[in-house]
Amino acid sequence: MKVNPYETRKLVDEYLLFHYGADDEILSWESGPRNALGFPVRSVTETFAWSSVPPGARALDVGCAVGRSSFELARHCGEVVGIDFSEAFVSAAEAIRAGERLDYRRFEEASTFSTLTAVRPEDVDPGRVSFQRGDAMELETSLGSFDLVHAANLLCRLPEPERFLRRLPALLRPSGQLVLTTPCTWLEEFTPVSNWPEGSTLGFLKQHLEGPFVLRRVFDMPFLIREHARKFQWTVAQASLWERSAF
Ligand SMILES: C[S@@+](CC[C@H](N)C(=O)[O-])C[C@H]1O[C@@H](n2cnc3c(N)ncnc32)[C@H](O)[C@@H]1O
Repeated sequence: MKVNPYETRKLVDEYLLFHYGADDEILSWESGPRNALGFPVRSVTETFAWSSVPPGARALDVGCAVGRSSFELARHCGEVVGIDFSEAFVSAAEAIRAGERLDYRRFEEASTFSTLTAVRPEDVDPGRVSFQRGDAMELETSLGSFDLVHAANLLCRLPEPERFLRRLPALLRPSGQLVLTTPCTWLEEFTPVSNWPEGSTLGFLKQHLEGPFVLRRVFDMPFLIREHARKFQWTVAQASLWERSAF
């Protein structure tokens, strides 16, 4: 049976470092793309138009992984729901939310590693955040509606991205904001070729979202995932901010 890579200990470790590691724990070389650090925070703080977010806003973080962006949303929102398909990711996120200090392995080379600890960011009210396992392509109606939806680097990991996009209009309140980031890395391993965009990923988003949403901004967001001390994934995600049209 095909193993979901996001259920493996290797990726739980990699994502705990990506989400909770300090900058110099991730990139300990003098050279390197420093502006790619801190992505799970930047994809929240540098994307939404915060001045127009209502007080006590409700936010949904789809594909939340081990939870860092959900905690960042909770600094500005009254309630945040983080959803991910990976049981291993959701249980790590929930342990951190509950105040656990979660040890993880940062690989150096071969099988050598150092042990680091992920903790909930300071000054975040854990009572505002909940995590649950769920499928972005089958989000339940009982979730209700949101002022903010954040889906970072999720789209091209879905077998049927269109099903997720079709669900979005009903999830957003009028004038609600949607942030999508995507590395546009379409792989058969996750998405059958017949469900890939025919042209650009942005064109695909416009085709499915324009009408119920107005495209407000498109911009680039680099990020850096450390595999081991000498190997990193440097990627430039395409970010887009969409506003739900008035009904
Ligand atoms: C590339 S990671 C991005 C994670 C996180 N948003 C970030 O930026 O670090 C993709 C995430 O989508 C989740 N995912 C994959 N398929 C999903 C689905 N059908 N529904 C919800 N989450 C899914 C994975 O478990 C993983 O956490």
